[in-house]
Amino acid sequence: MPELCVIMGDGIGREVIPAAVTVLKAVISDLDIIEAEAGWDCFQEHGVSVPDSTLERIRACGAALFGAVSSPAYHVEGYRSAVLTIRQELGLYANIRPVRSWPTVSPVQGVDLIVVRENSEGLYIGRERLEGDSVVAERVISKKGSLRIANKCVELAALSHRKKITIVHKANVLPLSDGLFRDTVKNVAAGKFLVDELLVDVAALKMVADPHIFDVLITTNLYGDILSDAAAHWGGGLGLAPSLNWGDGVAAAEPVHGSAPDIAGKGVANPIAAVLSGALLARYFWQDGPAADRIETAVYKTLLHAGQSLNGTIEITNKILANLENI
Ligand code: IPM
Ligand code: MN
Repeated sequence: MPELCVIMGDGIGREVIPAAVTVLKAVISDLDIIEAEAGWDCFQEHGVSVPDSTLERIRACGAALFGAVSSPAYHVEGYRSAVLTIRQELGLYANIRPVRSWPTVSPVQGVDLIVVRENSEGLYIGRERLEGDSVVAERVISKKGSLRIANKCVELAALSHRKKITIVHKANVLPLSDGLFRDTVKNVAAGKFLVDELLVDVAALKMVADPHIFDVLITTNLYGDILSDAAAHWGGGLGLAPSLNWGDGVAAAEPVHGSAPDIAGKGVANPIAAVLSGALLARYFWQDGPAADRIETAVYKTLLHAGQSLNGTIEITNKILANLENI
């Protein structure tokens, strides 16, 4: 029986995650749900943003669905970002961010790409230090880290029937680190997929001007953070952008959007990014392609028939559930 650790988090996470769980249970009826806490409210209550018990529950379930967390805009002693903690502690080294056009809400049709973002190293190792009156930030690209993300990318490209992998880097300025990343991915993917490469600045221009050229795009942590937000525009914005933090035998799906405290509690948050994040767990973690296809088709039909007039978390969820019944 598949098990899911559900972490609602803060703000609209408490509205969109229950919606996503209802949809997942409608397609995977024997799904077992276990709840756990993380985030800013959790920090204020327990003094820790991700309690050990939460990490243990995620490990035990294998799969987690994570809502959104607030972070203070000022320094708080002892506080560590819940998202980054979960990624690091569970070794979720791949961040899968698919973007596709949806009817009525996307600015263009025909975009269908996946950003594969290295999720554990690069500038996100968080090592900054003072040297005189300068600050030095370390950026680590390892052979091991590049190899495992390359293997994950090839696995994902096969599972989702993709043809081309574009490696995005800045090896003209960082020949050792980005060169290692590029060469490692190339060695793994060559012969299995069409492989090409782009400098990250050129990739950014193409993402804005010609997103249709992308199929699977693989890149280092910070480039992937930035490019995936730009790409999300073509899907209809962050309200529709899902993601999957994926490691070996463990994964945490998460809508890309934040906790949106300005609209929290009003019932107006769009649950689609959370619902689609659930579909990513089905497709890649449980390897249940038909369940993932059903969810995505129900979202497609919901947007096609009512995209511009949809309003409210519950209304959208109910439409998705109604569409599921006929798929
Ligand atoms: C994301 C977010 C995070 C990141 C922040 C909240 C640390 O922007 O998931 O893309 O930079 O990875
Ligand atoms: Mn981001």
